[in-house]
Amino acid sequence: MLKRPKISVIGAGFVGSTCAHWAAAKELGDVVLIDINEGAAKGRSLDLFEASPVEGFDSRIQGGSDYALTKDSDVVIITAGLPRKPGMSRDDLLATNAKIVKECTQNVVKYSPDSTLIIVSNPLDAMCHVAYEVSGFPRERVLGMAGVLDGARFRSFIAEALDVSVEDVQAFVYGGHGDTMVPMPRYVTVGGVPLLQLLSKDKIDAIVQRTRQGGAEIVNLLKTGSAYYAPSASAVQMAEAIVRDKKRVLPCAVLLQGEYGQNGLFCGVLAKLGAKGLEQVMKLEMNPEEMAMFEKSAAAVKELVEAMKKIQY
Ligand code: NAI
Ligand code: 2OP
Repeated sequence: MLKRPKISVIGAGFVGSTCAHWAAAKELGDVVLIDINEGAAKGRSLDLFEASPVEGFDSRIQGGSDYALTKDSDVVIITAGLPRKPGMSRDDLLATNAKIVKECTQNVVKYSPDSTLIIVSNPLDAMCHVAYEVSGFPRERVLGMAGVLDGARFRSFIAEALDVSVEDVQAFVYGGHGDTMVPMPRYVTVGGVPLLQLLSKDKIDAIVQRTRQGGAEIVNLLKTGSAYYAPSASAVQMAEAIVRDKKRVLPCAVLLQGEYGQNGLFCGVLAKLGAKGLEQVMKLEMNPEEMAMFEKSAAAVKELVEAMKKIQY
């Protein structure tokens, strides 16, 4: 008998509960929502389940604090942790979220040793290292979500500037999930036409800058937390690529093992995602300027990972 895929989401806050929403609405499989706040996980999952007859999706949605509920998950999205507040960098979250991600990963691995992990908690690239080390999983099954989100912001701003459909804008971002991220305008196409033929350099530069600040822009507006609609949609797009074996080519944080001159570092690059998780790190030719920006971004990730190694978490 065909088994429905199972997607567990750890952390039933804004990002986690919205991940559950997108995953259930897309009928990716059954969904489990886990949080230390048991009432929040139970309440939000029950509420979502009760939306299913109205929207017409068949997905069992359960929630709680007990990781036994997550047993035999195919994909686990880890969103547990504190979000950014105004004036706070992603890196300020380092110590607190490292402890949380460690604890969540240990529990996940106990019940779903064959799952693929999608890490969302910030600071993203550093939290991927925590999950990778604690899980003992191969790199194929530990992925970080940042590039889909940063790429989506880049695509939205380009579509707005040109007054074209977001669907026709192909764009991606390399590097770490921080201010040094590397949007790649040279590779952006709009309906197949290179962006460089469509927008002035000044306008492209402004969009690149807005993309780099995309997370902070939302934090400054919300004042009490960070973005969640686009982040959760992005994590669920990665989950969909895996549970439906779509072989999507998406920008994600992966453990580089020699690619792009980096070894043993999680960093955002284009990757093929399918049933096995990471199925291929795509090759991209970078010009010297792009490579310098990528190396600067990788150095910022490395600094953060080194700082984390000095913390007891
Ligand atoms: P939130 O505060 O709404 O939710 C976090 C949830 O984690 C809370 O419900 C909390 O009870 C739970 N939690 C805390 N410790 C836990 C533990 N030990 N076990 C299980 N659950 C635990 O925050 P939000 O907005 O959902 O953000 C979650 C994380 O995602 C933050 O670290 C945020 O910075 C990050 N984020 C990352 C993005 C990315 O692009 N990678 C984008 C957006 C958010
Ligand atoms: C974002 O980019 C805060 O990392 C989060 O929205």
